[in-house]
Amino acid sequence: MIIIPKDIEPKEMYKILIGSVLPRPIAWVSTISKEGISNLAPFSFFTVASTVPPVLCFAPQYNKTEMKNGKEIPVPKDTLANVRETKEFVVNMVSHSVAEKMNQTSTPYPHNVSEFEAAKLTAKPALHVKPPLVAESLINMECKLYDILEIGKGMLGGCLVLGEIVCIHFSADVYEDTHIDLEVLDSIGRLSGNLYSTIRDRFELVRPTIEAIQTSTQV
Ligand SMILES: Cc1cc2nc3c(=O)[nH]c(=O)nc-3n(C[C@H](O)[C@H](O)[C@H](O)COP(=O)(O)O)c2cc1C
Repeated sequence: MIIIPKDIEPKEMYKILIGSVLPRPIAWVSTISKEGISNLAPFSFFTVASTVPPVLCFAPQYNKTEMKNGKEIPVPKDTLANVRETKEFVVNMVSHSVAEKMNQTSTPYPHNVSEFEAAKLTAKPALHVKPPLVAESLINMECKLYDILEIGKGMLGGCLVLGEIVCIHFSADVYEDTHIDLEVLDSIGRLSGNLYSTIRDRFELVRPTIEAIQTSTQV
């Protein structure tokens, strides 16, 4: 079977993307509005974009539009509106222990409601940016906006938000001797629908070298 994206409905495309590209890590993004209201929401369209400089990216999509002067325009999610205004955010990592709270913060609360309060999470001051850290997360990365790329202007279009990491916080047991303990971090990933994965099942694959391949084909 072959599918040409332009021949199918956006919702079907979305289902194919989230069902094919998985498991996806989750950025639990804290921001602050210019009025000072903190905001927190999960984004699984998320990855590392660069190591030098260290840049993370995530993609808030448009799921609402409104009519303005006879034109249909997208309504940004609170996270995107805040990043546009304040140019700062924090990516908090999601461990299994905070999965339910993370999910609660995906509720479409009004702009003046802080998900930190709604989900009873502890907001801890950051050192280099205004949005707070989620104290319950084991790793928090403070980011300054690097760029925003608008990819689609309609429903299910959205933006790629890139942020340069300026400070990383690790909780006590998760980072030792330049090693991050997978068991302690206990990350979850998003699958399709309401499903998530843990990191419990693992196997190892050693990366091949060109020398090893040449030796094995000489036999
Ligand atoms: C695990 C998870 C991952 C999500 N990933 C995304 C995503 O990558 N992009 C997106 O636009 N919304 C995503 N959402 C939905 C947003 O979290 C949701 O729309 C939220 O209300 C946005 O909050 P805000 O308006 O405060 O920014 C995800 C929800 C969950 C539960």
